[in-house]
Amino acid sequence: MVEKQAKPSNQPKKFYITTPIYYVNDIPHIGHAYTTIIADSITRHKKLAGYEVYFLTGTDEHGQKIEKSAAEKGLSPLELADKVVGRFKQLWKELLINYDFFIRTTEPFHEKGIQEIFQRLKEKGDIYKGIYKGWYCVSCENFLAEDIPQDEDGLKTCPDCGQKANQVAEDCYFFRLSAYRDKLLTFYQQNPNFVRPPARMNEVVSFVRQGLKDLSITRTTVRWGIPVPGDPEHTIYVWFDALHNYLTGIGYGWNKELFAKFWPADIHLIGKDILRFHAIFWPAFLMAAGFPLPHCVFSHGWWLKDETKMSKSKGNVLDPSLILEDFGPDPLRYFLLREVPIGLDGNFSHEGFLHRVNSDLANDLGNLVHRTLTMINNYFQGNLNEVGDETSLDQNLQAAFEKAKSQVIAHYDDLAINRALEEIWVFVNQVNKYLAENEPWKIARRPEKRPRLARILYQAGCALRGIALLIYPVMPASATKIWEMLGEKTKLTDRHYDQFRFDGWEKGLRISPPKPLFPRVKLEDFIKGKKAQQPPPKKTPKEEKMEMISFDEFMKIDLRVGEILTVEKVEGTKKLYKIQVSLGEETRQMVSGIAEEYKPEDLTGKKVVVVANLKPAVIRGIESQTMLLAADVNGQAVIPFFIEDVPAGAKVR
Ligand code: MSP
Repeated sequence: MVEKQAKPSNQPKKFYITTPIYYVNDIPHIGHAYTTIIADSITRHKKLAGYEVYFLTGTDEHGQKIEKSAAEKGLSPLELADKVVGRFKQLWKELLINYDFFIRTTEPFHEKGIQEIFQRLKEKGDIYKGIYKGWYCVSCENFLAEDIPQDEDGLKTCPDCGQKANQVAEDCYFFRLSAYRDKLLTFYQQNPNFVRPPARMNEVVSFVRQGLKDLSITRTTVRWGIPVPGDPEHTIYVWFDALHNYLTGIGYGWNKELFAKFWPADIHLIGKDILRFHAIFWPAFLMAAGFPLPHCVFSHGWWLKDETKMSKSKGNVLDPSLILEDFGPDPLRYFLLREVPIGLDGNFSHEGFLHRVNSDLANDLGNLVHRTLTMINNYFQGNLNEVGDETSLDQNLQAAFEKAKSQVIAHYDDLAINRALEEIWVFVNQVNKYLAENEPWKIARRPEKRPRLARILYQAGCALRGIALLIYPVMPASATKIWEMLGEKTKLTDRHYDQFRFDGWEKGLRISPPKPLFPRVKLEDFIKGKKAQQPPPKKTPKEEKMEMISFDEFMKIDLRVGEILTVEKVEGTKKLYKIQVSLGEETRQMVSGIAEEYKPEDLTGKKVVVVANLKPAVIRGIESQTMLLAADVNGQAVIPFFIEDVPAGAKVR
């Protein structure tokens, strides 16, 4: 079926998405990468859905935190900012982040815009002069609540970051935030999705209900900031300056048309630590200045490293570029978005990351692509043309794709990206099952069945093409590789969800020999930092003097291909599974200590190597009649799965 490439001709729908602008006191880390990858994936998704998208990111360069950090490094604040901006832009390139505009708050058009808005609010009476007395946390660039007690040294500690705060007493300008309490509450009530996920909305509403104090929005003791118009002794508070980047970054003060087209923002993506600034101050500033309000502030959770908060002092801050060196962009993008729903905290461990890459990417998807393309190349020299008629099995596969596609799109729309990826993997496994049921490797032995063989491989190719479309928002590099290996001459990005057809893959395209999609990296090589710190593991006496066995002795071990049928957790244990495995003619039960490394769905349907003539043993009261082989990588089991389809029960030598 011919597939149209042009986007729909009706008025393009618009979508404006932002990330926070990042402080330039330090180099980018995994938390910054996370928000930006979400924004990029949603941007790519919306483009496939026919939207015109504007994706804004950038850097927050003023304020005491940057002033202090630059002084410590012997640089001017702008020199520091220039350096760090280079690091951010480089990382975004490596992660395939396709932003439309990178805003820096030190750019003149932004500074001018902020002064104009400040002036506007002052003239309106929402900004007035007074004296601020209180405590200020430089690390969070935030004023502390009054009720925080002083410690025995007379100091206060910031409840958000745990750093000591500074006492401040200075003339300043205030924003009349207190006047917006009721307006904000009405707005939240009328727009229950303004803050997502809903738990965060409840947090905001109960905070605002307690009443709001006017907000100090200038400083006389900070020099590194935008001067207050007509009163340059004062510089504008860094959060007042920073939040308005969402206006200046879309043309406010320099491109009226652009601004009119895209404002208000559809989604401000932020971390949960900066929710109040975005959900309370920001709409209040916009109400005061008379701008329409954004549609949604979506707050994501935090990434921990090995269950601990990352911090420079602990030395456990994850630098994404180390992962990118080994894996390229897609595995990291996939892991961060697949592992947790956006609102919850996530935990990054090297083991967890590697597990996902090996299991979901290399085993499930990588092998499927490899097998399918290898068969098309081997059986048809890379060119499928005499394709037989469809059967109901083929139609079922197409129906499964259509169902997956509509669910995936709905999940992406809802920012439930982890669920979208789960759905895609359900379909990947359906395609694997389709091949297992149709057994093209057997049909290949019967010349009279060539049209049927071509049909099976054509269906599988169509499915891969569909998978490429669906993973593209999150894994653009792999999606494009699959697309190109399928011989597609047009760009994947010229497609559109609505016009995409499962059978839009032209017959007769020349398929390239498969190239590996995902690298297989060993855990030891991956944990570079750790590796350097650890002494080499001691050898056991047995290893020192390796005992040799004869070929005949080796042949006594009956190794077989086993197909995993079912996997259940052994109650009351963390590590054990009870597994039923088919050896072709018979089914065996085994108890295996791999529950920490593999989920049941990672195992079911997979083919592994088992020892068929092992004496049964009873483990936790359950009879174990065989054992599977796995590599021992620092105490972690890594199972070798078969890439090619092999019958259960086949002998392994
Ligand atoms: N400059 C302000 C934002 C101004 S937006 C008008 C700022 N910058 S930041 O560089 O400190 O943080 C930027 C974002 O990174 C925040 O959304 C924050 O939640 C996020 N993260 C920082 N560390 C993080 C993790 N460990 N995990 C996930 N995101 C975290 O705040």
